[in-house]
Amino acid sequence: MLPPQAFLERLKDFGQEHTLGRWKELNEVERDELICELEAVDLPRVSRIARKTLQRDSLRNPVPLAEASVSCIEERTAQERERWWGLGLKAISEGKLAVLLLSGGQGTRLGSNDPKGCINIGLPSGKSLFQLQAERILRIQKLASNRAGSGRLVMIPWYIMTSPFTDTATRQFFEAKKYFGLEAQQVIFFQQGTLPCVTKEGKIIMESACKISRAPDGNGGVYAALKTSGHLEDMAKRGIHYVDCFSVDNALVRVADPLFLGYCIDRNVSCAAKAVKKLYPQERVGVFVRRAKNGPVAVLEYSELDPALASSVNQETGRLNFKWSNICMQMYSLEFLAAVTDELEQDSIYHVAEKTIPSADGPVQGIKLEQYIFDAFPYAPSVAIFEVVREEEFAPVKNASGVDSPESARLLLLRLHMRWVVAAGGFILHSVPLHLTGVEVSPLISYAGENLEEICHGRSFHVPCEIR
Ligand code: UD1
Repeated sequence: MLPPQAFLERLKDFGQEHTLGRWKELNEVERDELICELEAVDLPRVSRIARKTLQRDSLRNPVPLAEASVSCIEERTAQERERWWGLGLKAISEGKLAVLLLSGGQGTRLGSNDPKGCINIGLPSGKSLFQLQAERILRIQKLASNRAGSGRLVMIPWYIMTSPFTDTATRQFFEAKKYFGLEAQQVIFFQQGTLPCVTKEGKIIMESACKISRAPDGNGGVYAALKTSGHLEDMAKRGIHYVDCFSVDNALVRVADPLFLGYCIDRNVSCAAKAVKKLYPQERVGVFVRRAKNGPVAVLEYSELDPALASSVNQETGRLNFKWSNICMQMYSLEFLAAVTDELEQDSIYHVAEKTIPSADGPVQGIKLEQYIFDAFPYAPSVAIFEVVREEEFAPVKNASGVDSPESARLLLLRLHMRWVVAAGGFILHSVPLHLTGVEVSPLISYAGENLEEICHGRSFHVPCEIR
């Protein structure tokens, strides 16, 4: 039996008829399977995305961000920071904030098949990254509830984006851990989309004779996924005004940070991102740039920044020209999130990730089409870049060992927490070297070093331990 003629013609219209190349070898069930696979592909969309992405040149002449474009937290007075914290906490206590976790990544560099958030980075408590995040939310809920007064309990909805590779394992982990003390109904899982992998000529790659090779559409897939899942509407119904979005793999991530929110409200921006100074030219972080002189703020990913530009130095300051690193923590107004999805979809802003892809004909060099979370920044009517203290907010977990590993992240967290304890009048006692371990403070008692005097003053803590 031949493939249905109309079906074949449609594939030909989009140059994808090769997907039926092994039709003759298939039995009836496999043929049905293949037709279902191909019918599920939005061919006009995939063709448009592949064509535009493969034709687009990467940004060749990015312009460094002027110092004045970045607000530095350390240069602010204590009063100003307190005012922002208060503004943010007020908005949270009024139920205006939702948090959004990007958790669809496959953790390839880490060499694990588990979702990254399940990782135990070896803290004295043995907590996973998911648990640290959940407990920070619980702490902010408590502070916001106290502020709201009259016994009102504030609940921050937590939207978690997974992918087909992380969805089941993530849901099971949360269930098994009883949502780490959060209410099950405040944790909302949804899946990002996938896109067919293509060749450099835009041809869809077949994983097997009757199955398309697919990959997640990048963390920027969150924009389309929020819309198609109906969660943007859901947020609006809940009275959400702001969405705090973050990546799963930062052990120090300040989830639902009232200070950051207060800063955004004060500056009345539709989008803001936290930044730290880049440590060295080859550090694997995206950098904030302008697309042109006085052009919109954008992020250029490490894989897309010319190494010569990455190392170039400003002659006056002696610092890297492209020094503001993206740490994947961003705040959006809900209004902006609702508006930007269609614009991004229309312009089909995607990136090319060249990979070896298993196929029916053996491994082939192919392309995964990915949108990045920061692709939305240039569309924002107003963007603010907020520099935070690296040691307080950035402990990435990317590699199995060495730089940006569970071990380096654990030590960064423990060092910070020991500084909090000492500042609160506590003493650290140790019989093992402090560069190996330390004292951990449960997020349930302190989010950013507050509330520790009563617990720590004059007390000694034997390393390793968790203060709960
Ligand atoms: C990311 C940033 C980079 C930044 C660095 C800081 C992007 C594209 N790049 O790089 O600019 O300097 O973090 O640590 O954001 N994810 C999904 N779906 C996907 C792919 C990824 O949800 O399809 C999630 C991951 O689970 C993770 C986050 O997005 O939470 C970051 O993705 P990852 O691939 O780890 O980005 P990096 O290369 O580390």
